[in-house]
Amino acid sequence: MSVLVTGGCGYIGAHVVRLLSEAGSETVVVDDLSTGSSERVQGSRSFELDIAAPSAADALAGIMIDESVDAVIHLAAKKQVGESVERPLRYYRQNVDGALNVADAALRARVERFVFSSTAAVYGAVEHDFVDEHAPTDPINPYGRTKLVGEWVLRDLARASGMRAVTLRYFNVAGAGWPDLGDPQVLNLVTLVIDRIRRGEPAQVYGDDFPTLDGSGVRDYIHVLDLANAHLAALGYLDDPAPRHDLFNVGTGVGSSVLEVIAAIARVSGRDVPIEVLPRRVGDAASVVADPSRITGALGWRATRDLDEIVRSAWEAAESGSRRS
Ligand code: WQD
Repeated sequence: MSVLVTGGCGYIGAHVVRLLSEAGSETVVVDDLSTGSSERVQGSRSFELDIAAPSAADALAGIMIDESVDAVIHLAAKKQVGESVERPLRYYRQNVDGALNVADAALRARVERFVFSSTAAVYGAVEHDFVDEHAPTDPINPYGRTKLVGEWVLRDLARASGMRAVTLRYFNVAGAGWPDLGDPQVLNLVTLVIDRIRRGEPAQVYGDDFPTLDGSGVRDYIHVLDLANAHLAALGYLDDPAPRHDLFNVGTGVGSSVLEVIAAIARVSGRDVPIEVLPRRVGDAASVVADPSRITGALGWRATRDLDEIVRSAWEAAESGSRRS
């Protein structure tokens, strides 16, 4: 099988590509190298391409045909919530035009299987623990809205063309499957805390007055390797020739608070971690935890790695990165 992975040089994409290669699939990577590095996907055919460029659909269809691609995993996107609020057009162009071009190319190249990377941010202001796929989608920032539009594009195309499609809504992804594949961007809680510890600065807690057990925000942290495995499970699900379009939460079903995450990082790193409490971040919900029963029921997938494994692997990847540089 030959699988085209857009964004294959990025943090999550490189894990998906490595797992696919280990499972014996051919991989074709398309990436603009804006945040990723082609060193991460040695052994794959790779093409440097901006999927949102006006000519990208033609170029992508050509690659899919030339490389006899059987399935597409579309991850390439911009993903910084704050930046999306400041530069919404950039996000709509990159994420919506990008999804349209990749979907258009897959249609023209008669690729029958499509996996789309989405996010729990499509749910917006979550008010209940354990979010399932029936929860209303009402994103509260442009990033989440561009991902929701991508979901709609894929759903409508699947209905019209018979393309088989799965959307995966990721919860809070962290950790590293291999030390050389750690998250190169410092944007989320785990990477931010590790970065601050290594600089000798206190970890920051955005609010300690939420209605949660310890007052700090609760999220569902999923190991990037478990998440990458969900993509392989989705491809297996799409082997069935019956037309299908489905969407699944990809989370663990276990919530961890900011203070629990910081304590876990302190434990695995052996460092003392002082804490600085700051005001809540605008728009942050108290608790967002997946109900993952649908993906377990349909795909047989479940997360196997706990918070300690997530933060230990993230810490080791950060340490090995500093040894390399
Ligand atoms: C997690 C928790 C913060 C940093 C976002 C996107 C989502 C997905 C993941 C994309 C919250 C708290 C954070 C810090 C803290 N992105 N925090 N101190 O906001 O749950 O989700 O990233 O693909 O779509 O919305 O993730 O890691 O920013 O925050 O206290 O230094 O940690 O308030 O409770 P979030 P996050």
